Amino acid sequence: MENKLKDGLDVAEFAFDLEVSSPGRVNLIGEHTDYNDGFVLPAAIDKRITIRLRANGSKTRCTIKSKGFDSVLVVDLGNISQGTEGWHNYVLGVLNELQLLTQDLKGFDCEMETDIPVGSGMSSSAALECGLAFGLNELFDLGLDRWQIIKLGQRAEHNFVGTQCGIMDQFASVMGKKDHSMLLDCRSLDFEYIPTKMDPYVILMLNTNVKHNLSTSGYNDRREESSSGLKIIAERFGVQHSFRDMTPDMVKRCREELGNVRYRRCSYVLEENQRVLKAAEHLSNNDLIGLGKLLYESHEGQRKKYEVSCPELDFLVDFSKNWEDVLGARMVGGGFGGCTLNIIHVEAVDNFVNAVSEAYKKKFSIELSPFQTVPSQGTTIIKKHV
Ligand code: GLA
Repeated sequence: MENKLKDGLDVAEFAFDLEVSSPGRVNLIGEHTDYNDGFVLPAAIDKRITIRLRANGSKTRCTIKSKGFDSVLVVDLGNISQGTEGWHNYVLGVLNELQLLTQDLKGFDCEMETDIPVGSGMSSSAALECGLAFGLNELFDLGLDRWQIIKLGQRAEHNFVGTQCGIMDQFASVMGKKDHSMLLDCRSLDFEYIPTKMDPYVILMLNTNVKHNLSTSGYNDRREESSSGLKIIAERFGVQHSFRDMTPDMVKRCREELGNVRYRRCSYVLEENQRVLKAAEHLSNNDLIGLGKLLYESHEGQRKKYEVSCPELDFLVDFSKNWEDVLGARMVGGGFGGCTLNIIHVEAVDNFVNAVSEAYKKKFSIELSPFQTVPSQGTTIIKKHV
């Protein structure tokens, strides 16, 4: 049987065996550094996907319904192939990876609903991948640990969705902790939790409502440009093939061989890594002013050197610079649209949101979608019926 769509599956009567809650993430700083062996500083957020699951007694037949879409995806575990609709490949990719790891997966019914804005740089896809894998792991006692689930989610995205993403989103979704962000070394995968209570400041996201599609919008190109740049530098100096063994001086000395584009990409990676480490220090010392400055610098790097921003994001970041109650702002995630993150005094939120929404609408004729968020718990089982 091929993966196919079918109408029906009465949501109201869906008696599930377990319910999983899996969060999106915000990345405070460290963009496009994860697949470059660098550092990132993300946190799970309070916007989440809820996934309800039940074993259906069949050996291989699975039905998956996403609320908000009118159809049901039907999958035969014995015959999984890539689908054509966006969200299907996240599900199919996870099932495919699970099948490669274990013989113990069986037929199940699933429904999911989410309040993570889709395509907005808040990792709705990682939340889905990891939440589904986490839930099936529990439902069928597959014995996978959290890191296996994180890496499986990443592989699903590589192999079925086609984005050669790093590890940050899946990591943040699974490992998140309330009131903490996480400093992750993407080379060693060591990480530490950093208390992230910013009172009286808050994290305000501004969703441009410009949708990006990472696999077609240049994400993979950026990955290729930085890695081919790295290769040139490594060969010239006879050192290991990792940005962690590079210095700014080495990058400068290779400027000619790299050419302008690769030079910009490689310099950005080294600079952004330094910013992440400094940002983690500022956060630990509760120096939000220092943190805010780094956010602005990071945005400039993404705009001019890594070139993953867009006019809508730049407008929002520039606008925020006129507000002294905003300590820092930058684009978040893969880029080419999505959200900006703003660290803003709680009492200034309403006025700022009104002003920026009006200005944005005037400039682009698009409604801005603002929302506040807080560092939250990672993927969890919230209900289990025995
Ligand atoms: C996307 C990817 C991540 C990371 C960011 C950019 O969210 O999934 O792995 O590369 O872009 O920092």
